[in-house]
Formats: sequence, structure tokens, C-alpha cells
Amino acid sequence: MTAPANPVISATGLFTPPETIANDELVASFNAYVAGHNALHARAIAAGDVAELQPSSTEFIEKASGIKSRHVMSKASLLDPAIMAPRWAERGNDEISVLAEIGTAAARDALVRAGRDASEVDAVLCAASNMQRAYPAMAIEIQDALGVEGFGFDMNVACSSATFGIQTAADYIRAGNARSVLVVSPEICSGHLNWRDRDSHFIFGDVATAVLVEAVEIAPPAHWEVLGTKLKTVFSNNIRNNFGFLNRANPDSIGADDKLFVQEGRKVFKEVVPMVAAMIVEEAARLGIDPAVLRRLWLHQANAGMNRLIAQRVLGHEASADESPTVLDTYGNTSSAGSIIAFHLHSDDLQAGDTGLICSFGAGYSAGTVFVRKHG
Ligand code: COA
Repeated sequence: MTAPANPVISATGLFTPPETIANDELVASFNAYVAGHNALHARAIAAGDVAELQPSSTEFIEKASGIKSRHVMSKASLLDPAIMAPRWAERGNDEISVLAEIGTAAARDALVRAGRDASEVDAVLCAASNMQRAYPAMAIEIQDALGVEGFGFDMNVACSSATFGIQTAADYIRAGNARSVLVVSPEICSGHLNWRDRDSHFIFGDVATAVLVEAVEIAPPAHWEVLGTKLKTVFSNNIRNNFGFLNRANPDSIGADDKLFVQEGRKVFKEVVPMVAAMIVEEAARLGIDPAVLRRLWLHQANAGMNRLIAQRVLGHEASADESPTVLDTYGNTSSAGSIIAFHLHSDDLQAGDTGLICSFGAGYSAGTVFVRKHG
């Protein structure tokens, strides 16, 4: 136990995979798969026994989502119409796992920016949508790779994992259970995306982020005060992924489409926008913050249209790119990491005293808000 303290964000970190897939490349691969499928099943399609697949298009993707490109961990296999999934050599148990490797890279970036030695960190939370394995926890492997003492554990609240992680870390600091906590979000979304599903094949990208949440007493002079955090969940099947260890109970179901990401995109859009906008406005009121004077919104990066509507409801006017920056165009949807990438890349220019909001939303449904104020 240490003394209860006020939590701040000391620094953030980012790992961006070097390879990218632009929409044109993605669509060319998808359409080659569609052409191959339709040719192979031409007779069954003509007889009405098999549905003819429809091609995708760059125009649709950009208009419906705002995504132009995404970073990935395994470009060649994702674009190969015969594979369309990430592939790399399996690693032995004595080698660092891929998810831990990219999470560690993001965490190291955050530690360097904060001027913090890993030995001074008390806990590591791996907060992400899909863990590489059941156990040992990814967080403990990252903790080991960094040389952190104390403890670590995994938590999964889908696209809201990072904000739920920040509140958890902030609560440890408020309670005096820790003074320095790393919240790491390695998101290899390419592994749970169905690259053969026309409705969603363009959505996700890969990345890792880290947020160092600390007691104000030990934080560097330039930091972000955590003014308040709020979490919300409401059960919905509209975004779902049934992948899990019980797949082995029914070998026939392995590889079925619902063992990957599936969603009712329109329903998600319609139901999540009002829920999140209302939550932000209510939480701002509780904290005594006029939402209209928020200097910047770092929103979850899933869909440009959703962000436009949420920002408008919160600010009371159409948000400029400066007020609600997007990284969706170059990163795609990176699940829980999206709002943290936006914060990481678009926060240096704010002045001391400026107030902003990190906000996530997604499967569960789940949503999280973290109101922050710049210091130093
Ligand atoms: N290429 C070309 N056309 C496509 C297509 C593709 N890849 N995918 C779908 N279409 C077509 C559909 O067939 C449909 O055609 P129709 O009107 O002739 O029937 C039309 O485009 C609209 O399809 P729809 O799926 O309803 O698109 P949409 O405008 O709702 O956009 C999403 C789809 C997924 C981008 C959008 O619903 C969304 O982003 N929702 C929120 C998702 C989200 O945030 N999820 C959270 C994940 S964490």
C-alpha cells in the first residue's frame, strides 16, 4: 500500500506495424477471391444452390467508413486470396509471443517518454480485444519482458478495453494500491477479422498502444490530470466473436464464420451513437465541465460517420478535424487502441489548462470516458 493519490497520464506509447494495405490492394485481393469462388461454384450458382458472391469496392469502403488504409502484421498472407489470414512461424514457449512483443514495444515507448524506468512500475494491465492464449496472462509476459516487478493481468472489454484499463489503473492509484501502472493494448485485429466477408473485410488494422497512469506526485511535470472516468456496459449481440477454447468441443464449428468478428453494422451505428453521446454529456455535467468548451475529443476510431455525429451532439456544432482528429483513415479500426492512437498523435499542441476527452465504445456494448486536463 502507498498513500492514496490523484491519477494522471504521464505518457503514452505507440507501436505501428511497418506494413500497410491500401483499399485498392485490399479490394483487388477480395475481388480475386470472389471471382475464384464464383468460377469454382459456377454450376451450383446457376442451379441456385450456392449464392454468387459480390465484389467489394474502394469507393464503398471510403464512403461507408472513412478508412483508406490500415497497418498489418502479415501483409502477404492477408492479401493472398488462398489464405486471407495472418500467418507467421509459430514461436516456441521460450520465445516472446507476438502480442507481447508489440505490447512491449508500445510500453517501452511510453516509459521513455515519461522518463520512467520499468523497475519503478508497479503493475501491467494488458487490456485488449483478443488475447493470444488463455494463460499465462499476456500482461505477465509483457511485465517480464519489461522487467517490471509487482503484478499484471489481462482484461478484455473489446473496443473499450483501454479506457476500462485506464479507470482500473486510476482506481489503484486513488486507493493507494499502486503508484505507476502501464495499460497496454496490443491489437492484432487482423487475426479476428473475416477477410472474406464483404460487409466487414475492410474494417480492422493492427497496432499496439500503451498508457502510463501514475500518481501525480511521481509524474513528470508535463502530464494529463485524469479529471474523471466513467464506464458503461449494455449487453448486445450486434458485435460478436465466438472464438474461444470451447471451440474444441465441436470440431465441426472450427473455422465457422461466427468464430471471427461479426456485426450488424447499421444497428451498431444507430444504437451506440445516442448511448455514447448521452454518456459523455452526463459525465461532463457530473464533473462540472461544459462540453462545448472541450478543446479536443479523442474518440474511438471505428467509423467516421459515428464520430461526426457523436462529436456534433457533444460540442453542439460540427467538429473540425482539430476538435475531433481522426486516425481511422490510415490505421483503420484498431479496436481499443484507436482513441489512444488519436490521443498519442494529436495532443502535443494542446496548452496547459486545456481539457479534452478520451472516449471508447464498441462490443458488449461497452463505452468508457476519460476526461483529462493538460499540465506543464
Ligand atoms: N463493397 C461494396 N458494397 C458493399 C460492400 C462492399 N465491401 N459491403 C456492403 N456493400 C453494399 C451492401 O450490399 C448494401 O447494398 P444495398 O443497399 O444494395 O443492399 C450497401 O452497400 C449498404 O450496406 P451496409 O452494410 O448497410 O453499409 P453501411 O452503410 O451500414 O456501412 C459499416 C457498413 C459497417 C461501415 C457501417 O454500418 C458501420 O461502420 N457501422 C458501425 C460499425 C462499428 O462501429 N462497429 C464497431 C466495431 S468495433
